[in-house]
Amino acid sequence: MGRAAAGRMGRMRYLTFALAKGRLAAKSLEMFEQIGITCEEMKDKSSRKLIFTNEELKIRFFLAKANDVPTYVEYGAADIGIVGKDTILEEGRNLYEVLDLGIGRCRMCVCGPETASEYLKHHELIRVATKYPAIAKDYFYNKKHQTVEIIKLNGSIELAPIVGLAEVIVDIVETGSTLRENGLAVLEEVCPLSARMVVNQVSLKRENGRITGIIRKMKRLVQGED
Ligand code: PRP
Repeated sequence: MGRAAAGRMGRMRYLTFALAKGRLAAKSLEMFEQIGITCEEMKDKSSRKLIFTNEELKIRFFLAKANDVPTYVEYGAADIGIVGKDTILEEGRNLYEVLDLGIGRCRMCVCGPETASEYLKHHELIRVATKYPAIAKDYFYNKKHQTVEIIKLNGSIELAPIVGLAEVIVDIVETGSTLRENGLAVLEEVCPLSARMVVNQVSLKRENGRITGIIRKMKRLVQGED
């Protein structure tokens, strides 16, 4: 690197990436590696560090609870985030969704025992258990025009119709095995889901060159042109 380039790198601000902890994190890191954005420091599984830096590239990565990723990005504490479409819809934050990464593909569905399909057909006032109350509300009220009672749960949503807490659930279905093993089925599909790249609205203007460069490379990778 020449002296002028080194000088520019010195003045460059860090681009900060927020990744959703869990299933998506490893896959999205792999994708960043494939476009030359690496973070060796992050591979040390025993580390308790929360934020990882690549000094040469002037980038930082951190892992956060999926639901918090849109918050970090909206406030500009992270310039770029990788998070599921489910979380983006549920959180409803002000940010730009710039790319579908095509990983973590699954569906948001209304599920329950087959017998519950009658309640849906006749728009009955039923109870809907879900980890995604905003998505469930939008689906039942705005798309189906069906009045329901929404009950927020934090996990193992499939239990709700089994123990009689709710008639149906709104939840993520990937392979469908959780439903099958509990005698439940998909009754209606709400929307398809996958991991998305989101960008802070001010960062996209201020760091336009660097960020659009990353988006362009990632897009080529997703489209299989690399
Ligand atoms: C998710 C989702 C379903 C399951 C779907 O739960 O809520 O329960 O995965 O996957 P499948 O169709 O391949 O069986 P997760 O494991 O994230 O845990 P949770 O119960 O805490 O929501």
